[in-house]
Amino acid sequence: MSSLKMIEGYPEYMRKSIELVERTRPRRMREVYRRLSLEEREELLRKYHPDYKPGTKRPLRIGPNRGDEAPHELADLLEAHPLVKPIDVDLSKIDIDTDLLIIGGGGAGLVAALWANQEGLPPDRITIVTKLRLGDSNSVMSQGGVQAADRPPDSPVRHFLDVMGGGHFANKPELVKALTMDAPLMIKWLEELGLMFDKDEEGNMVEDWGGGTSIRRMHACKDYTGMEIVRVLRDEVRNREINVVEFTSAVELIKDDLGHVAGAVLVNMESEQYMVARAKATILATGGYGRLHIQGFPTTNHYGATADGLVLAYHVGARLTDIETAQYHPTGAAYPEQIVGLLITEKVRGLGAQVVNKHGEQFVFPLEPRDVEASAFIRECWERNNGVITPTGMRGVWLDSPMIEIIRGEGTIQRRLPAMYRMYKRFGIDMAKDPILVFPTLHYQNGGVAINDRGQTDIPGLFAAGEVEGGVHGKNRLMGNSILDYLVFGRRAGINAARYVKKANLGRLTLNHVDEYEKMLREAGIETDRKAPMILPDYRGKEVLARKIDIFK
Ligand code: SIN
Repeated sequence: MSSLKMIEGYPEYMRKSIELVERTRPRRMREVYRRLSLEEREELLRKYHPDYKPGTKRPLRIGPNRGDEAPHELADLLEAHPLVKPIDVDLSKIDIDTDLLIIGGGGAGLVAALWANQEGLPPDRITIVTKLRLGDSNSVMSQGGVQAADRPPDSPVRHFLDVMGGGHFANKPELVKALTMDAPLMIKWLEELGLMFDKDEEGNMVEDWGGGTSIRRMHACKDYTGMEIVRVLRDEVRNREINVVEFTSAVELIKDDLGHVAGAVLVNMESEQYMVARAKATILATGGYGRLHIQGFPTTNHYGATADGLVLAYHVGARLTDIETAQYHPTGAAYPEQIVGLLITEKVRGLGAQVVNKHGEQFVFPLEPRDVEASAFIRECWERNNGVITPTGMRGVWLDSPMIEIIRGEGTIQRRLPAMYRMYKRFGIDMAKDPILVFPTLHYQNGGVAINDRGQTDIPGLFAAGEVEGGVHGKNRLMGNSILDYLVFGRRAGINAARYVKKANLGRLTLNHVDEYEKMLREAGIETDRKAPMILPDYRGKEVLARKIDIFK
């Protein structure tokens, strides 16, 4: 590979394919690739979406979702021994005594803390614990924007229909109603906190397309929307002096003898010592499971995304929903190797870039819902053999980014996608002049802990918000609804947990549920030396995942 001749970031053989992309571009500029019919979408999903690949899931053998299918990587954790042994924890020694414990310092946790405070809980009675630093999360890494139907001719009803269709009508309608009805309020709230949304010369918010949406409704801050949102949320949490405990991970929930969740066992990530946090209400805001690398896919997710919240909730008997589906973002970086799997925002297609194969030909409408779009890429690369193979063996298709400059004027990429432009520049690639290579990457956990529209789980005292909860997105989330999810359900969980706290009386603390979980494992005949939660992924001794994708072989 060292003999490869590089021309401006790409090896010579990849340049030959880029020449074909350039040659077909004038013709393609006049072509609109047709959208697939519902039947065609279904067939594509069935044949090529990783969720449908045989042998990749199994029915759970224990717990409230016994019999439901889950990807092996998640089932392994739900069927593992609890990390905490009750004998090692002294529940009579309380290290943190708080009214509201929020587990997770990403978007959902920050929003929940602010609205619980708004609802009357004093800042020193709210505690956020986070295993990394405050804000380290998928939320801060999100790029393309947040959906909200906040001006005619759009409406929350139209947004509702898009979300339900995108999720294959498996979504819980009452949750989608909350999501879409609260959206305009959340955008207004963020603006009042000082968020700098993209605006046109008249001061109106710019709205862009997202995959599977019937109208432009994506509000963004260039291509670092998540960073800007987390900036204002984190500042506000710090300004209000809400308690924050960093580098501290929740490893087991605590219950009381009345069956309520009453806090958590925490572990200090440096000293590895346990701490007991007693709380009248607990909100799970732990994010998703991208770092489980379902089916060997690379991921857009941050290092802490290891399904901890699902494991903790399952240990106390909370029901999960839609856990058999994962979201593969169609456009993960496929080249260069250093950034394989990182997010290339859907906004690149929203701004006009087409997707083309190694011959420079379109093969799918660029803004199909994510699951459909990703399936079309997989088919093109693995069945039709029309992908470009990188020097390390990845396959990918071209995202014809220079089209954006032609359609919207020179300089648009640097103006609207500055972070991505800079990222590629570091590798000698000018995405305003050359296309970029992409392939699906594990992006989101579509399902999660079941909640109602107040953010409550099935277990009293336990709330959930953000990616850890499920039911909002059905079997497939649309772009821009993850930020919206943590805004809407972070707020609802924060408000309702604060109300719950006012009436709650705690009984005696117990970890009996851990013993009961061990008993369930024994009775189901599950023998394993795995322990959960995982807390952080362990990459030692494993092969580099990105090169190992053989999805449909
Ligand atoms: C993107 O910008 O494409 C990702 C945002 C999302 O997942 O909603």
